[in-house]
Amino acid sequence: MTTKSRYEQLKAEIHAHNYRYHVLDAPLISDAEFDRLLNELKRIEAEHPDWVTPDSPTQRAGAKPADRFEKVRHPAPILSLANAFGAEDARAWFERIRKIDDRVEKAKFVVEPKIDGLSVVLHYRDGVFVQGATRGDGEVGEDITSNLRTVRAIPLRIPVEANARITVPEYLVVRGEAFLPIKEFEELNRKLEEAGEKTYLNPRNTAAGSLRQLDPALTASRPITLLVYQIVHAEGGTVPASQWEILQYLKSLGFPVTDIARRFDSLEEAIAYAETWDKRRDDLPYEADGMVIKIDDLTLAAELGFVGKDPRGAIAFKFPAREVTTTLKEIGVAVGRTGVLTPYAVLEPVEIGGVIVERATLHNFDYIAEKDIRVGDRVLVKRAGEVIPYVIGPVVEARTGKEKPYKPPQTCPACGQPVEHFEGEVAWYCVNAACPAQLIRNVEHFVSRGAMDIVGMGIKIVEKLIEAGKVKDVADLYTLTREDILEAVTKKDRKTEKQPPGKIADNLLASIEASKSRPLARLIAALGIRGVGEVSAADLASHFGNLDALSKASAEDLQQIEGIGPNIAEGIVDWFGREANRKVLAKLKKAGVWSRGGKSKVEGRSSDALAGLTFVITGTLPAWSRDEAKAFIESHGGKVTDSVSKKTSYLVLGENPGSKLEKAKALGVKIIGEEELRKMAG
Ligand code: IVH
Repeated sequence: MTTKSRYEQLKAEIHAHNYRYHVLDAPLISDAEFDRLLNELKRIEAEHPDWVTPDSPTQRAGAKPADRFEKVRHPAPILSLANAFGAEDARAWFERIRKIDDRVEKAKFVVEPKIDGLSVVLHYRDGVFVQGATRGDGEVGEDITSNLRTVRAIPLRIPVEANARITVPEYLVVRGEAFLPIKEFEELNRKLEEAGEKTYLNPRNTAAGSLRQLDPALTASRPITLLVYQIVHAEGGTVPASQWEILQYLKSLGFPVTDIARRFDSLEEAIAYAETWDKRRDDLPYEADGMVIKIDDLTLAAELGFVGKDPRGAIAFKFPAREVTTTLKEIGVAVGRTGVLTPYAVLEPVEIGGVIVERATLHNFDYIAEKDIRVGDRVLVKRAGEVIPYVIGPVVEARTGKEKPYKPPQTCPACGQPVEHFEGEVAWYCVNAACPAQLIRNVEHFVSRGAMDIVGMGIKIVEKLIEAGKVKDVADLYTLTREDILEAVTKKDRKTEKQPPGKIADNLLASIEASKSRPLARLIAALGIRGVGEVSAADLASHFGNLDALSKASAEDLQQIEGIGPNIAEGIVDWFGREANRKVLAKLKKAGVWSRGGKSKVEGRSSDALAGLTFVITGTLPAWSRDEAKAFIESHGGKVTDSVSKKTSYLVLGENPGSKLEKAKALGVKIIGEEELRKMAG
C-alpha cells in the first residue's frame, strides 16, 4: 500500500473509531490503540504537510487563540420557540394552528428533548465540516469553528462511515444544541474548586462560556458534546421533508441524535409522552427544561409561518421550573481536602421538584459579595437534574431590614488558624497542614474506592481516630493496632452496628493490609495531589514506574507526559517538595506501602469472553472493589460504563445499590452478581 492510500485509510478509520466512541458510546478499540493510529497519522502528516486538510482528525485541536470572533450570516433564520406551560397551553396552540390550516387536524407530531445548552449551526461543504457558528440574534452569529472542531461528537466529514451508501447535499447546514453533560459539569466544578478557581453556575453557562471564548485549547479541555435536530439549509441534493425522517437521516450521516425522540399520530399522545419525561427528567444525562413538540410534516410546518421569531409548527412543552424561594438561615463554611474554604447556605427546608433541599452551594465568597447575599434573606434557589442546588440570588424586594451582610471568616472554622488568599485565585485557604478538617478529607480520600479502597474505613471511624490522635497523617493508618480501632469503633454509635466491634476491627485490619498491594496508580491518586485524578495518576504510574522517580521529576519532565499541563506539573513538584509530605512518604515506604508499576493484578487481556458486552457496576461487591471488577471485565474484552442505558448488557449488583438498579429494572437490563460475572468470563 502506498503511503498516501494508507493515509486516507487511517483518516477514515480514525473518524469511524471517534464516532463509535463519542457518538455511539460503543468503542471497538482501546484508548491506547486509538492513540497509536493517531500517532501514525501524525507521523505521515509530518512527512507530507501538504496532504493535511481541515477534515483530518489531527485538526481538531491546536488552532491558535483568536483575537475576536468573525460574524457569520446564517443561510436561513435560526428560530426560537414559543412556550407551553402544561397540556392546556399545548392544546390551545393546536387549536390556533388548526384554524390556520385544517391539515393540522391529521398531523403527526415528533417529541424531542429540549436541551438547555447553546444552539450551534454547522456548515458542511461536500461533506466536510467548514464552519460552525453560534445562534447570535438568529440572523447573524459568531464564527466559533476552531472551538467546535474540538468537540469530538461533531463529525469533521460526513457520512462518517465512509462506506455508508448515502448521498450528502453539496452544501448542508445543520443545527443542534451543544451542552456539557451533568456528570462532567459536576466533575469540572469539583476540580475547579479544589484548585481554588471559580466554579461555574450551571452546565448551560459552562458550555456557552467554553464555546464562546477565544482559545480553542480551553474548549478542547471541556467534555462538551451535542445533539443535532434540524437541517437549516441544503443545496445540491435532497433531504427528507419530515422531522422524524430528518432525525433518522442525520443519524445515518453520523451526527449524534437523541434516542428518546418519538413520533405520534395525535397531539394527546405527544403530550402524554412529553409529560412522562417531566417525571423522569433526572434520568437524562443533560439538563432539559422541557420537551419540544413539532409538527412532523415540515412542508406544513413551514407554511404555517412564524410569530416573530417563533415558528408556528413547533412548541416548547416546558417542565415546571425547579426554582423556589426560601429563607437563608445561616452561611456555613466547609473545609476541603486542599484547604479550600467553600461557603454553603443553610436553608429553611423547601421542596424543589420532589426533593427537600436544606443546603445549597454559594460557590465562593466573591459570589456572596457580588450578589449581595445576606443572612436572613429570602433567596432564590435552583435545583436542576442531579446538580447540587445553588443559590441564584436574594429577593431584594422581600428585605425587612433585619438581614445581615456576611463577612467571610478570617480564621479556619475547623482549626482556628488564619486563612490565606493566593494571587489569581478566588478561593480562601486554610494552609495549616495539621488542620483536622483537611486531615479528615485527606484520609477519606486516601481510603476511598478509586484510591486505596480500604473497605470499612468510614468517615465516623476516621473522625474518631483523628480525634484520639492515632492518625496524624495517612501513613498512620498502617501502624494502627487492633486496640486503636476497637476504641474508635466503640466510641461510635454502637447501636447502629450490625457486627461486633472485634469483628469490625479484624476486617478493617485485613483491608488495611490488603490495600498495601494496590497498584501504583491508585497510590498516586490516593496522595491527593492537587489536579492529579485517576487518569493522570495512571499516566504518571506508567511513565515513572515508582514513587522515588516521580518524586524527583522536575516540572519540565512532567510536562513531557501527555495530559500533564504546567499547573498540574507545578502542583506535583510542590507536593513532593513539602517536608510534611516527604515524611508521610517515608512512613508509607517503611510500612511497605510502595507499589511499583502501573498494572493491577487483573490487568492484561485474559480472554474475549465478554467482548461486545457493556456492564454497569452498582453497590459494594462481595470480594472485588469496583476498580477490580472493572479491570476484570476489561481484561475479558468487556466494557464498563457509569450509567445504565439501553446499551447496557448487564448490571453487576452489589450491596446497597444506587438508583442504577431502578433504572436497569425500568429498562429491562439483565442483573447479575459478582459470582455470575466470574462464571460468564469462564
Ligand atoms: S427546535 C424551528 N428542538 O431551545 C426550530 N430547539 O427555546 C426551533 N432547543 O433556540 C428550535 N433542544 O436552542 C428545537 N430539540 C430541540 C431543541 C431546541 C433545545 C433550544 C434551541 C432554541 C431554544 C428555544
